[in-house]
Amino acid sequence: MNTKTTRITPEQVEGQMAFCQKIHALWLSRGITPKAYVETYGCQQNEADSERLRGMLAQSGYAIADEAEGADVVIMNTCAIREHAEQRVFGNLGALTHTKRRHPEQKIFLCGCMAGEPTVSERIKKSFPHVNGVFSTHHLWEFPSLLWQVLTSKKRAFAVADEAGSIAEGLPVVRSNNLKNWVSIMYGCNNFCTYCIVPYVRGRERSRLPEDVLNECRELIESGCREITLLGQNVNSYGKDLSLGVDFADLLAEIAQLPGDFLIRFMTSHPRDASKKLFDTMAKYSKIAKQLHLPFQSGSSRVLKAMNRHYDREQYLELVRYAKSVMPELVLTSDVIVGFPGETAEEFEETLTLIEEVRYDSLFTFIFSPRIGTPAAKMEDPTPKAEKNERFARLCALQNRISEEIHEGYVGKTFRCLVDGRDKDVLTARTEGGRLVRFAGCDSLIGTYQNIKITGSTTWSLTGELSE
Ligand code: SAH
Ligand code: SF4
Ligand code: F3S
Repeated sequence: MNTKTTRITPEQVEGQMAFCQKIHALWLSRGITPKAYVETYGCQQNEADSERLRGMLAQSGYAIADEAEGADVVIMNTCAIREHAEQRVFGNLGALTHTKRRHPEQKIFLCGCMAGEPTVSERIKKSFPHVNGVFSTHHLWEFPSLLWQVLTSKKRAFAVADEAGSIAEGLPVVRSNNLKNWVSIMYGCNNFCTYCIVPYVRGRERSRLPEDVLNECRELIESGCREITLLGQNVNSYGKDLSLGVDFADLLAEIAQLPGDFLIRFMTSHPRDASKKLFDTMAKYSKIAKQLHLPFQSGSSRVLKAMNRHYDREQYLELVRYAKSVMPELVLTSDVIVGFPGETAEEFEETLTLIEEVRYDSLFTFIFSPRIGTPAAKMEDPTPKAEKNERFARLCALQNRISEEIHEGYVGKTFRCLVDGRDKDVLTARTEGGRLVRFAGCDSLIGTYQNIKITGSTTWSLTGELSE
């Protein structure tokens, strides 16, 4: 496998923009405004990629639609993290035969993480003839030329070569939100946790240049963005591939010093690389939200070793202790996997005791799903499914109790929150820690920071009222 990052040149990006113009001209000559629909699965990285796809589509003259029915282009931006996620995509892809029958000119693409799996692109080639093209995340920047190919020839477009990965700057973007935006600071992953498919489908770790990240953040803030979430599979290893002497904490500090009223969040932090320097930096700057998503995956050091996580239970707990000592108000969230191959009943208990000890505000909980090509898929897994389901239910019950207790503790306190939208008859807002608050108010408050006094709580959210 090629392990070198491909930096796409400005000329190459311009070449793609020329395809956008040609596609635009093609539709103009037909006197039609075409429609495009992008369906996104998976994590924020895919959401961020979909915003770029919409940008390229808009540049090519497409109006962005909110359903596949009647759309001239449909893109499925997919997730490969668990088998269930893939089954859903294949189901929905199959259903597109009907929309295409009603609109035979419809062009259908599959991209994202599933497109990086050779078995998937082969299956599409053979069994899904109504799909016009497949491109992996490394080839996202080439989408305009692929679209041109399927519009102007009968050929299907497959751009799925196995590569270390690319970085393309300057692609157009249609953001789905003006207030809260994602900024990818790096792509790919080098960690090869034994259960995880991401390094295989998203390539090696590669960082954007600090000035490119800073410029994007500056532009967003100047155009009214109030919350920036920096994205990467392992943000704490930002910069290692650049050798510029800038690490993630340095980058955060630089962004935090930009002028304007905004908050910075980031995800995801790998405990292996999270440093005291990072927590000190978070503590120092008021514009960095005191919120940390720090996946632990398991509370058992033996299981963590089998997962290739490079930290043990004690090291993880020590990190959390330090982070809480410099940021007493820190809101912690995490990811955890139940039923990793060979996880014993005692090891599962260690996961529960870790949760009790840390007391997360909320958790993303997963049952282990074997992914073909990863080492864990080949490990012996004697625990019956029913037993795993039972463990999963116990874990969720424990976390729900903790979330409820923490949320109850918020009642009576006042938080500065970003009002970010409306949900039926109430406004929604987020605390600095990222907790959802519902309260009564008028739409003119959307986009402003308000002090909100918490008056009630549930497991999942808070209710409150405006306070002086
Ligand atoms: N880069 C991030 C996680 C990305 S995937 C990190 O390392 O923290 C998001 C979460 O999906 C992971 O944290 C893990 O908990 C879960 N996950 C990944 N692969 C999985 C699998 N094969 N089965 C079940 N859960 C999985
Ligand atoms: Fe997957 Fe591990 Fe990389 Fe996260 S750090 S994306 S879990 S391999
Ligand atoms: Fe899924 Fe890819 Fe994200 S596998 S979780 S969309 S990086």
